[in-house]
Amino acid sequence: MSNEFLWVEKYRPQTISDCILPDALKKTFQEIINNKELPNMLFSGTAGLGKTTVAKALCNQLGLDFILINGSEEGNIDTLRGKIKQFASSVSLQGGYKVVILDEADYLNPQSTQPALRGFIEEFSNNCRFILTCNFKNRIIEPLHSRCGVYEFNTTKKDMVTLCESMLSRTTFILKEENVQHNVKDIAPVIMKHAPDWRRVLNELQRASVSGTYIGLSSSSTGSSIDELVKLLKDKDFKKMRTWVVNNMDMDATAIFRSLYDQSTTYIKPQSIPQLVLILADYQYKHAFVADHELNVVACLTEIMANVEFA
Ligand SMILES: Nc1ncnc2c1ncn2[C@@H]1O[C@H](COP(=O)(O)OP(=O)(O)O)[C@@H](O)[C@H]1O
Ligand SMILES: [Mg+2]
Repeated sequence: MSNEFLWVEKYRPQTISDCILPDALKKTFQEIINNKELPNMLFSGTAGLGKTTVAKALCNQLGLDFILINGSEEGNIDTLRGKIKQFASSVSLQGGYKVVILDEADYLNPQSTQPALRGFIEEFSNNCRFILTCNFKNRIIEPLHSRCGVYEFNTTKKDMVTLCESMLSRTTFILKEENVQHNVKDIAPVIMKHAPDWRRVLNELQRASVSGTYIGLSSSSTGSSIDELVKLLKDKDFKKMRTWVVNNMDMDATAIFRSLYDQSTTYIKPQSIPQLVLILADYQYKHAFVADHELNVVACLTEIMANVEFA
């Protein structure tokens, strides 16, 4: 099997019809392609749902020049202005308007960079469209909301079953393409576990397939690493706990909170469980607003270490 490629990139859907999306959302994007008119858009949803993929697929299918700028890496206002200006003011090779995909726009400073962006959208409105993506739309300032149609990628429980089924056939297709021996019934658990973070599903599959045979939920996945975390909390080993967080930040923080909650009865003294629940709920809530997720998780775990009695 080929090791040179990350499956998430190699199997990134190139068209809207290949993307795994709830029907209503897919139909909306399909209509944009049929009408050949791309509005300014804001894509909102947690990681790995396909926001960047859809933005690229729309541009490709409409034959539009686009530039992809990452807000979490290039959030500096001068860099941003320079890049957008240079791109927007050159003539499109395709003849049509151009598209600026501003990925992870919620990482842009809401006091300085986001207001400036509002100015850019107006300044370049005659030959540019903007697609912003964000994990949390409450971190995007209102004037940007109102200049973009908001497209919600977060799914309801109702849609989840169908989406997981589509993902199952997509992943078995990928495993066949990669000549990985597998048992279809071993694939479902990894999908159930990480859905709807499709990036995570593919990464876990690839990680568990390096030998050429899919070995099922790997020992590095959530289950055992949460046990490891619990031990560090119990030992009040702050330093190792921080290292654990750094190594596991590819796991969605909400999944960390959830696993701690699910397993609480086995590792926490019964009288401490209400306290744990309150702490987890508090940091889970803050998770939607804070700029630094790693810091928020570490703060949560520190509070648990200090205030919860372990069994
Ligand atoms: N809706 C989807 N359908 C099929 N594959 C997906 C979907 N969403 C994500 N993926 C897979 O995960 C990878 C990362 O997706 P991406 O669009 O970057 O997610 P986001 O921008 O929402 O974090 C894609 O390259 C693709 O392989
Ligand atoms: Mg993205």
